[in-house]
Amino acid sequence: MSGVAPAAGRTAIIEVRGLVKRFGQHTVHEGLDLDVYRDEVLSIVGGSGTGKTVLLRQIIGLERPSAGTIRLFGQEMSRLDAAQLQLLRNRWGMQFQRGALFSSLSVLDNIALPLRELRCLPDNLICEAALLKLELVGLSARDADKMPADLSGGMTKRVALARALSLEPELVFLDEPTAGLDPMASDDYVALIRTLRRELKLTVVMVTHDLDSLVALSDRVAVLADRKVLAALPIPQLLQVDHPFIREYFLGERGRRALAAMPEAAAVAASLTDGRAVALTGDS
Ligand SMILES: Nc1ncnc2c1ncn2[C@@H]1O[C@H](COP(=O)(O)OP(=O)(O)OP(=O)(O)O)[C@@H](O)[C@H]1O
Ligand SMILES: [Mg+2]
Repeated sequence: MSGVAPAAGRTAIIEVRGLVKRFGQHTVHEGLDLDVYRDEVLSIVGGSGTGKTVLLRQIIGLERPSAGTIRLFGQEMSRLDAAQLQLLRNRWGMQFQRGALFSSLSVLDNIALPLRELRCLPDNLICEAALLKLELVGLSARDADKMPADLSGGMTKRVALARALSLEPELVFLDEPTAGLDPMASDDYVALIRTLRRELKLTVVMVTHDLDSLVALSDRVAVLADRKVLAALPIPQLLQVDHPFIREYFLGERGRRALAAMPEAAAVAASLTDGRAVALTGDS
């Protein structure tokens, strides 16, 4: 695949090859390739409607590809039966873009839900585990009985994250985790992900429009454009890929402001001010 950083010694826990996804006449993905390596934070960016959420849904088996293969933890998704899929399901957690929490369930019951569905632990242990997760995301037992409608935006995101972590996964998917948060809540969330990543040794796949979190958290950024992953690279290398979306997204005013937090990337951005980016050729 072109535009992918060298992977010497790294284990890919997600391998997407030649993915095609169609809804009727509408082709969302066409020949999409992507690797995600253990312990990295990989962010996915792309215009609205380019298929970021649909890509995540296919990786976790909620949506079937029209063609191509997806291997998760070395296992090809299309070959797994329901029991094997359930086993795999225990190894990842997902914070969904919308409808994060069940409005009729308390905070604690929302977090406990994935454990209850497994039906293999007594309820007192499940509640204890859910409380621990609540604390892990910076909330407390006082919040356990609140209903989703009573939470602030930042708290809702944290509860959704606690639920995504409830089965102690090694891989988490975050779909627009900071959307709708004010800058301070967003910074707090980014700090939380950093800590959790370090302490729980998580691999994180994050879809985001938020440039500040992108710069603060990502080891690599995958750009979704023209129905495929155009490149998946650390930001300084990605900036050198000549594509209109990358130029507009990273080298516009907002992009440059965000890149100031990463001196190496800011230097590359400055060197590209004449608008000439290096063309993407072969394995860059
Ligand atoms: N079940 C479905 N049936 C038909 N079309 C769908 C379905 N799910 C998604 N799509 C279409 O697939 C395209 C990609 O949708 P997706 O939600 O993945 O976009 P996105 O990149 O996540 O956008 P955003 O940044 O706005 O969240 C859109 O045109 C959407 O309307
Ligand atoms: Mg989406």
